[in-house]
Amino acid sequence: LLPPLKVAVTGAAGQIGYALVMRIASGEMLGKDQLIDLNLIETEAGMSPLRGVMMELEDGAFPLLSSVTATSDLNKGFGDINYAMLVGASPRGPGMERSDLMAANAKIFAEQGKALNTSAAVNAKVLVVGNPANTNALVASENAPDMWEEQFIAMTRLDQSRAQALLAEKAGADVKDVDRVIIWGNHSASQYPDLSHARIGGKWAKSIVKDDKWIKDEFIPRVQKRGAEVISARGASSAASAASAALDTVRDLHLGSGDAWQSNAVVSDGGYGIHKGLWYSVPTICKGDSHFRRVQRLPIDDFSAKMMTATEKELIEERDAVRHLLPGHESKPVSW
Ligand code: NAI
Repeated sequence: LLPPLKVAVTGAAGQIGYALVMRIASGEMLGKDQLIDLNLIETEAGMSPLRGVMMELEDGAFPLLSSVTATSDLNKGFGDINYAMLVGASPRGPGMERSDLMAANAKIFAEQGKALNTSAAVNAKVLVVGNPANTNALVASENAPDMWEEQFIAMTRLDQSRAQALLAEKAGADVKDVDRVIIWGNHSASQYPDLSHARIGGKWAKSIVKDDKWIKDEFIPRVQKRGAEVISARGASSAASAASAALDTVRDLHLGSGDAWQSNAVVSDGGYGIHKGLWYSVPTICKGDSHFRRVQRLPIDDFSAKMMTATEKELIEERDAVRHLLPGHESKPVSW
């Protein structure tokens, strides 16, 4: 067995956290030969339900779980961690505007960024799940000046999985045969789920589906609004599937997924003409060294370009809404 890696999960007593921590403990994320130290982070109010989660982890008798710590102290929770999964976020309260929600979360993720900067292991990787995920990742990274921007990823893997499943259903194919589906931009209804490069069993998906009208009028809006569809059916937002996607993201970073394209919202390097410094979802390749590589220079048609700009615009607006909470933005001449 490999010596323990430390994984922190914030919001560990919430819906996603509850589904996620059990699966991390089972070894599905980091491999069946990897010992795990789990640090569960909650608010003070979340400590009581978190005690219950701790009991259930104990009752699971997971052989790979070497230790579990529960805390609301960020520096303790992020101390020497290899992976942080930032799931906890402020929920939208009654009468709260989107901008209020942005500001509330920017505060949380600024504090978490600072604590990660002080306490995390040198090469720690941080996955932001809590919404607005892309902008929260930007805020956390900006508040962690000693960490690389590439250490922070916001999750768009759930959107990719939803898109893959929908395409497989349309084509009557197995989801495992679908690849190169891309999510561009924000994890929000402005995202652009793109089938231009998608393949089914190695063949160009568009030539199998042969239905551009379905792509534009059904596929794209359905993926964009899938979160709302789940909420209206379940009475609560996607949790098990979100946990699954978070696990998939970190597993691929850690163990690799060959040459497959995985959409991740990462800091824009200016590729595809996207404003530098925004956390924007692009296709990446994960070779299993805990880094990602962006898939570069794909041909982009006019329709895609328009969709990619629309979601970029929303991310610029989100950034501007929290700009006052970003330290040092005046000293970043390129994009600020
Ligand atoms: P939830 O409300 O069930 O759980 C959130 C938990 O986070 C609560 O236990 C709460 O006490 C805790 N929390 C709040 N602030 C915290 C803080 N500052 N530090 C530590 N813990 C804190 O919510 P759920 O369903 O688990 O969702 C969590 C987040 O994930 C939400 O923001 C949701 O919008 C987002 N989400 C993101 C998805 C994505 O694809 N990126 C998909 C689905 C949800």
